[in-house]
Amino acid sequence: MATEDAYTAEPFVPARGGLPALRKAAAACRGCPLHRDATQTVFGAGSADARVMLVGEQPGDQEDRQGKPFVGPAGRVLERALSEAGLDPADAYVTNAVKHFKFTQSEPRKRRIHKAPTLREAAACGPWLAAELAVVEPELIVVLGATAGKALLGSSFRVTQVRGTVLEEEIHGHPERLVPTVHPSSVLRADDREAAYRGLLADLKIAAQALE
Ligand code: URA
Ligand code: SF4
Repeated sequence: MATEDAYTAEPFVPARGGLPALRKAAAACRGCPLHRDATQTVFGAGSADARVMLVGEQPGDQEDRQGKPFVGPAGRVLERALSEAGLDPADAYVTNAVKHFKFTQSEPRKRRIHKAPTLREAAACGPWLAAELAVVEPELIVVLGATAGKALLGSSFRVTQVRGTVLEEEIHGHPERLVPTVHPSSVLRADDREAAYRGLLADLKIAAQALE
């Protein structure tokens, strides 16, 4: 039996075939226990030619049902902020640090409540994100919140310290430029939603400028 430390998507990741091969293989990933309760793998979406890659945390309830990232409430906030910032959603590849929905549910028919993935689960899923980065080779990565930040930049990542700045870091052996910001769902949870939204928008404008 695999021990918890052996959680990894690595053996499921194909060496070639581009995004279609990755998406197909990810649908059968058993690299950690999160596939057991989720409906399906939610792989990234967008063009292999995208200039910017947006990395969220994990699919939510709607994403789990529809099989696509950011199609629920957080996705609507993100889409509005992207277009207001001048970033064309069609020019973005959108994905998550973790590809299966993690949730708690008090009873079978009750609402499924999002549960944050652990660092170990994010690390297990990391080979998918690394493979997406290798294929898409984005000019810029927009890091949406702490889980994505820790997955890409390590556990010392603090979104409040680096949001709205252009970072240059080596990730999986490649130099990358990144702009971290808050997770769009934190805008929906904020006491002052308008202020939180303006903060997200300001950070995304920095990202748009960095692409010019
Ligand atoms: N939140 C995320 O981090 N990703 C999604 O795809 C949806 C909500
Ligand atoms: Fe595989 Fe990631 Fe799903 Fe875990 S969360 S089973 S590593 S795709």
